[in-house]
Amino acid sequence: MSAQLLDGKFFASQIKEETRKKVEILKQQYDITPGLTVVIVGENPASQIYVANKHKTSLEMGVHSQVIRLPEQVSKEELLTVIDGLNQDPAVHGILVQLPLPEHIKPYESEILEAIQPAKDVDGFHPVNVGKLATGQEELVPCTPHGCIRLLELAGLPIKGKRAVVLGRSNIVGKPMFHLLLARHATVTVCHSCTQDLAAITREADILVAAIGKPKFVTSDMVKPGAVVIDVGINRVGDKKIVGDVDFDAVKEIASAITPVPGGVGVLTIAMLLYNTVKAAQIQHK
Ligand code: GUN
Repeated sequence: MSAQLLDGKFFASQIKEETRKKVEILKQQYDITPGLTVVIVGENPASQIYVANKHKTSLEMGVHSQVIRLPEQVSKEELLTVIDGLNQDPAVHGILVQLPLPEHIKPYESEILEAIQPAKDVDGFHPVNVGKLATGQEELVPCTPHGCIRLLELAGLPIKGKRAVVLGRSNIVGKPMFHLLLARHATVTVCHSCTQDLAAITREADILVAAIGKPKFVTSDMVKPGAVVIDVGINRVGDKKIVGDVDFDAVKEIASAITPVPGGVGVLTIAMLLYNTVKAAQIQHK
């Protein structure tokens, strides 16, 4: 049996349509145009593509979009000054500092992310928003895991009571994914690089989320027949090709539903960023 293909574009278009309607209401009833500012430091080629996509989608949604490009050598202090200016600017409802940061300011990543006003933190990375998520208040939730959850919900795939296994414990995906699944009454296990007998654990999963950044790491022998498999990986192999963390061709024969890479979770991440930008505008004008 071949699995149901969970087409990210199809579900993202539903989320974008909802967001577009909310933008219209904010404009017509409150004279507010939601604004998103993305700050990018340096020339990381993958980041350049992500930022261009965010800008394009913002414009499609009727969201005001600004990209601030800072040179590779920018100091931590200069970056903090830019963030402070954006915090003060009432036309900017969402601020996103594109990661990864260049090596010399990487050690200050936490300080930089914490400088963003929590109400404008459309990444959901600020400790205030992380704490809210961990205590069951979903306000500004990290975009990629939120997109995975919305995908499951829109596809009508149940979460309550299911065994969910998350591969990866990053602050961006793994940890928030754990909280989101738990809040929806799944029984959740988080696995990582030190997990022993990994395949025995992943084989118990009704819902398997792979977010480890290793090409084709999840093989068919690691998947329970009929499982729902969500692949968050975006791995560049060779010059152009992009593959996920899951061996798609083999696992699709075992799973009941699976996201492709590309065309799966990545498209939903951007849709959720715009969703968060509108939410941030609503929070700030309460
Ligand atoms: N780089 C890769 N993914 C992300 C993300 O979700 N947010 C930010 N700010 N940078 C990223």
